[in-house]
Amino acid sequence: MSDNENIIYISEVMMPHQANVAGNIHGGEIVKLMDSAAYAAARRYSRANVVTARIDEVEFHLPIIIGDLVTCMAQVVYVGKTSMEVAVTVDVEDLETVGRKRALSAFFTMVALDKKGRPSRVPSLPLNTVEEKQAFEEGRKRYEYHKQKKLKQTDADNQ
Ligand SMILES: CC(C)(COP(=O)(O)OP(=O)(O)OC[C@H]1O[C@@H](n2cnc3c(N)ncnc32)[C@H](O)[C@@H]1OP(=O)(O)O)[C@@H](O)C(=O)NCCC(=O)NCCS
Repeated sequence: MSDNENIIYISEVMMPHQANVAGNIHGGEIVKLMDSAAYAAARRYSRANVVTARIDEVEFHLPIIIGDLVTCMAQVVYVGKTSMEVAVTVDVEDLETVGRKRALSAFFTMVALDKKGRPSRVPSLPLNTVEEKQAFEEGRKRYEYHKQKKLKQTDADNQ
């Protein structure tokens, strides 16, 4: 965890049971770690139970192998009414050399649920910096795109 209340860090050293026979870590292992970080960020932000509704833009840019230190950073960057978009980045570090590299990033849409499991309102997001405002605006565009897509799908299903 960081000093910044809005950011969650989770680090883990990759182990043989997470890899294929050549030593490459399975993509699902990394996504699981990212999902845990997104969950923690969204839960701490909303103070509610949260579930993952969507994952966007997962692209693996670098191989991750046994022994690497993987660090996920998660931050709520956009909020709707009951949903939150969490930006998650993954950095990878070979512990025998100096330096970290960005292995991937993705956007997780998490939905807050009340005690009965229904979507529940989340607080509005304070935007203090230019970067936060820009990230919020980009999140809003993705949110509206998905809303439109869902509406069109519902219309098509009802015809
Ligand atoms: C996520 C879930 C609670 C949404 O329920 P729903 O009946 O569609 O609720 P709503 O239509 O009221 O949507 C609630 C919010 O989720 C968002 N949402 C729902 N499905 C979404 C999707 N596929 N992509 C992006 N956002 C989505 C909506 O935009 C809405 O956001 P807003 O309130 O900020 O405008 C429901 O689909 C669910 O329980 N899914 C399974 C979640 C889960 O188990 N995840 C782990 C998988 S292993």
